Amino acid sequence: MIPSVIAVIISYLLGSVSFSVLLARLLKGIDIRQHGSGNAGATNTLRILGKGPAILVLVLDVLKGIAAVWLGRWLGNGSEWIPSLCGIAAIIGHNWPLYFRFRGGKGIATTIGVMVTLAFGPALWAGLIAIIAIILTRYVSLGSLLFVGFTPVFLAIAGDTGPYFWTSIIIGVFAFWRHRTNIVKIVHGKENKLGSKGGKRV
Ligand code: G3P
Repeated sequence: MIPSVIAVIISYLLGSVSFSVLLARLLKGIDIRQHGSGNAGATNTLRILGKGPAILVLVLDVLKGIAAVWLGRWLGNGSEWIPSLCGIAAIIGHNWPLYFRFRGGKGIATTIGVMVTLAFGPALWAGLIAIIAIILTRYVSLGSLLFVGFTPVFLAIAGDTGPYFWTSIIIGVFAFWRHRTNIVKIVHGKENKLGSKGGKRV
C-alpha cells in the first residue's frame, strides 16, 4: 500500500515539472504562459519558440507519462489501478504543477505517454484519427480532443472496460475541461491553426 501511495505522489511531482515553462525561461527568459495561447505545452512552444524546442517539450512531456505508468507498474504489486492512478497523477501535475503556481498545460502530451503505455493499440488507433484531423484542419486542439475521445472507444471495442478504460474516461474529462476555450474558438472558427500566427515568436 505505502509503495503505491509513494508512486502516485512521485508521479504528481514528476508531472509538475513543466518543461515548456523551464525551456522558455532558459532560452528566452520569458514565461510561456504570458504568450500565445498562454498554455504551457508543446503547441504553444512551437508558436513562441519554434520547432526544435517544441519537439523537445513534446518528447519530455510524453516521457513524463510513460515514466509515471512504469513507476506504478514497478511499485503497484501487479495492480492495474496503480499505474493508472500514477498516469492520472502525472497529468494532474502537468495541468496543475506544484512548482509553477498550479498553472500548467492541457496535459495531452503526457496523456499520450500514459495511454500509449497503458493500452498501446487503442491509443495508436485514436492517435491516427487525431493526426488525420490535424492534417486536414490544422487544429491541434481538435486532434487532442479526438485522441482522448476515441481512446476509450477503441478500448471498449477491444473488450477492455477495466481500469484502463476508466482511466481514459477520467483523462478525457480533464482534457475536455482544459480545452474549453479551444472548443468555443473552434465552434466560432477562431481557433489558432497550426502554422498560423497565433502568437508572436520571441
Ligand atoms: O495540447 C494542447 C493543444 O491541444 C492546444 O494547445 O496552445 O493551441 O491551446 P493551444
